[in-house]
Amino acid sequence: MHTILVTGGLGFIGAHTTVALQEQGFEVIIIDNLSNTRLSVLDGITAISGKKPIFYKIDLKEKGSISQVFKAHKIAGVIHFAASKAVNESVENPLLYYQNNLTSLVNLLQVMLENDCQNIIFSSSCTVYGQADTLPINEDAPIKPAESPYGNTKQIGEEILLDTTKASVLKAIALRYFNPIGAHHSALIGELPLGVPQNLIPFVTQTAAGIRPLLSIFGADYPTIDGTAVRDYIHVVDLANAHVKAVARLLDKKQIDAFEVFNVGTGKGTSVLQVIKTFEKVNHLKLNYKIVGRRAGDITAAYADTAKANTILGWSATQSLEDALISAWKWQKKLQSSK
Ligand code: WQD
Repeated sequence: MHTILVTGGLGFIGAHTTVALQEQGFEVIIIDNLSNTRLSVLDGITAISGKKPIFYKIDLKEKGSISQVFKAHKIAGVIHFAASKAVNESVENPLLYYQNNLTSLVNLLQVMLENDCQNIIFSSSCTVYGQADTLPINEDAPIKPAESPYGNTKQIGEEILLDTTKASVLKAIALRYFNPIGAHHSALIGELPLGVPQNLIPFVTQTAAGIRPLLSIFGADYPTIDGTAVRDYIHVVDLANAHVKAVARLLDKKQIDAFEVFNVGTGKGTSVLQVIKTFEKVNHLKLNYKIVGRRAGDITAAYADTAKANTILGWSATQSLEDALISAWKWQKKLQSSK
């Protein structure tokens, strides 16, 4: 069976995608610099799949180290997750983001082409659309000026891929994620926010666990169903499965264009208050929260038009918001018990 290299494979989405690839019979090699995760995630992956991926602790800014991996293994394709992804941090330290996210991508692509590896799946984001003019958002929606250096590195990353596919044998698929949430049902892997969580769901579960005294809702004056912002929350296992479908599309040479883009979401919009109420209901608890001012850079609403992924990629989300919020809470409780 083919060998797939997963960069950032010990991260939240990377770990779930590694499990999904192994379940489909792929051999997986993980490269991770452990800057935003723990080596113990490798044990969680192995416990689920029964197969320990080959692991290299490598920083993609060191091009020579990447070359050694490609010299040692015949790699059929790469899924590239490794990147810094904290929006606020990117505003405070833009050069760190441009250096890390773009140098890593360029190094990786150069080594891939030097070693005749021509297939890459790129972890992109719905942030490239900014506040889209129409909802749901399809792949033809205009790319808006990025709200943050983080979002800009995703836009530039896609441009780097497009230009490289025009000038080489490279074939690329960019998956534009909406909001990944939840955890594997085993609670053996999940989201590991180190420090104060930026994203909603880890903050919700840490508030429910008593780690945070209260959850702040950033704004209740948006033009939405209840005034709070709307997002497309997709179960991370569904997102992982979209990567397996994209890998198959590349390996089976089913692509129409050398560079293709797919929105990966559920197609449903859910407000912050609706998430909180659903979390309380399915987990039989009460959350302590208060409404505060809007967070800078936030958009009102975003949810995906999933038609292209459904018809061309042959993928659709199967897990419900309830499934995801139950799994998120189960994972949080597991984290507490293993402290
Ligand atoms: C969701 C909603 C907040 C925390 C970010 C990145 C995006 C992607 C997904 C990587 C918003 C509200 C949040 C809190 C809150 N990441 N919120 N209180 O901002 O949609 O997207 O994560 O690809 O690139 O930008 O996700 O989870 O931060 O926020 O009210 O404590 O929850 O205002 O409306 P976001 P998020």
